[in-house]
Amino acid sequence: MRQLSYKNIDCLQATPIVQLFVNFITYTRTTTVDNKIKTLKDKREKALAGGGETRIESQHKKGKLTARERLHFLMDEGSFQEIGMMVTHRSTDFGMQTEKYLGDGVVTGYGTINGRLVYVYSQDFTIFGGSLSETHAEKICKIMELALKNGAPVVGLNDSGGARIQEGVVSLGGYADIFYRNTMASGVVPQISAIMGPCAGGAVYSPAITDFILMVEHTSYMFVTGPNVVKTVTHEIVTSEELGGANTHASKSGVTHFACANEIDAIQHVKKLLSYMPQNCEDKAPALPYEPTDELRPELNDILPQSAQQPYDAREVITHLIDTDSFLEVHKDFAENIVVGFARLAGRSIGIVANQPAFLAGVLDRHASTKAARFVRFCDSFNIPLLVIEDVPGFLPGTDQEWNAIITNGAKLLYAFCEATVPRITVITRKAYGGAYDVMNSKHIGADMNFAWPSAEIAVMGAKGAAEIIFKREISQSEDPEAKWKEKEQLYSDTFANPYRAAERGFIDEVIEPSETRLKLIHAFKMLENKVVNNPRKKHGNIPL
Ligand code: HXC
Repeated sequence: MRQLSYKNIDCLQATPIVQLFVNFITYTRTTTVDNKIKTLKDKREKALAGGGETRIESQHKKGKLTARERLHFLMDEGSFQEIGMMVTHRSTDFGMQTEKYLGDGVVTGYGTINGRLVYVYSQDFTIFGGSLSETHAEKICKIMELALKNGAPVVGLNDSGGARIQEGVVSLGGYADIFYRNTMASGVVPQISAIMGPCAGGAVYSPAITDFILMVEHTSYMFVTGPNVVKTVTHEIVTSEELGGANTHASKSGVTHFACANEIDAIQHVKKLLSYMPQNCEDKAPALPYEPTDELRPELNDILPQSAQQPYDAREVITHLIDTDSFLEVHKDFAENIVVGFARLAGRSIGIVANQPAFLAGVLDRHASTKAARFVRFCDSFNIPLLVIEDVPGFLPGTDQEWNAIITNGAKLLYAFCEATVPRITVITRKAYGGAYDVMNSKHIGADMNFAWPSAEIAVMGAKGAAEIIFKREISQSEDPEAKWKEKEQLYSDTFANPYRAAERGFIDEVIEPSETRLKLIHAFKMLENKVVNNPRKKHGNIPL
């Protein structure tokens, strides 16, 4: 018998009986397909509804957006492509088989931010409090693996009650799967964690492994154990906000790099941050168009105070050197004696590390060292050239520093600079004393170009202290020790408190007028654009952690 197929139906249309049959087939087919499409649409609608209207309302009442609203603001319009919308959990304990939500509490996928590919996950607090189940973890791992294979950043929007309590160890395994992938992706693609709600227990360690953390003031917190456990164990009474709110982590612990006023502010920060970065470690950061103009900055000639003991704000120097409004400061409220952040110079991304004379005289302490070290390593991982602006009186003395390992922590910064192979330039504006001279991207540890302003003082220590030590006998035996001390201080100062002894040795490549600095930097970074350095082959170094 002749087979009825949709291809040969037309030729049979003449016969009424056949026509009836054809109509029936077409009707059945249409209704079946329509039903199937309707099923898909219904399922999609269900997934888009998250945990339901009541829970969405409750989320809004807390001043929080939903997972999908956040993605709407983060991704370029119409660019988001969802993966795993139909995933549900597999748990059967505690009646869980009767409570399933499509997507299982996390929206995952990819899209573009400012036209560049980004992988993203956004936890949905309206479904089991955004808690992490086995399948929720699998979804996150899937997009991380795609990001690694395709060389694009991962952005995580975190809002979660932690491990899905009903799943037990399966959920813990899911976390570990994520931590492992975070670590494997570290240094390969940029990873950014925005904390939009609770983040507690071991869950904090995924953001901690990523490159940057942003927190939202008053609606997000991070801690290993919450206030109740703290009260039981240490008898301290503390609120969630005090223990692990955005401002606490931005200023006291340094866990977060940014404390943002609200969720939209956090999302804008994520977009801006990404704009300075390449897509992956093989790539270069995108450059903005740049029209050369008069690059001299005469204001810089008057920027330093008359006395070397007076403070000034390093940010002002930075502002005069970089492209207009291009500075994005990182870790602004933590270890304020050092300033780090991204900027653009002649349209190109650079990372800046600057001692801050306006805070603790710009001294290096343990927090400043670790803050700068991590930033240097990020820039080096992702081919972002480094500019160091140096005015440092040395390392901070004292028991607090020594007992809290200033030696190990200072060594982190030293190690990070030594290892960095990106173009590296230093400008010494004023003090470069002692070990801090070596550490702050000196020529000896691999800097490519070192400039000094005429006001630079490159010495083992300040003239007063130096005179007291090396002329101790002469001063004590003098009829007027005070005058003798002053005389010797002047002698030491005349000998070393200038950039020329270092320049004679070639430790400084050029002594420059402050007004010329931007011009010199543009030329030098351009000259270093194709720099290639290969450190010795090794499995990995052993940074003093
Ligand atoms: C399953 C959870 C959940 C969780 C919250 N929910 N956390 N479901 N597993 N971990 C559910 C709630 O049952 C509730 O469901 C909904 O999410 C919202 O929670 P609420 O308590 O109503 O919200 P809120 O008052 O805003 O409080 C949020 C919260 C609180 C502070 C996060 O829910 C909480 O303390 N949850 C437990 C946190 C926790 O201990 N997690 C385990 C941490 S240990 P309904 O149906 O009512 O909407 C951990 C280990 C990880 O994560 C280790 C990795 C190595």
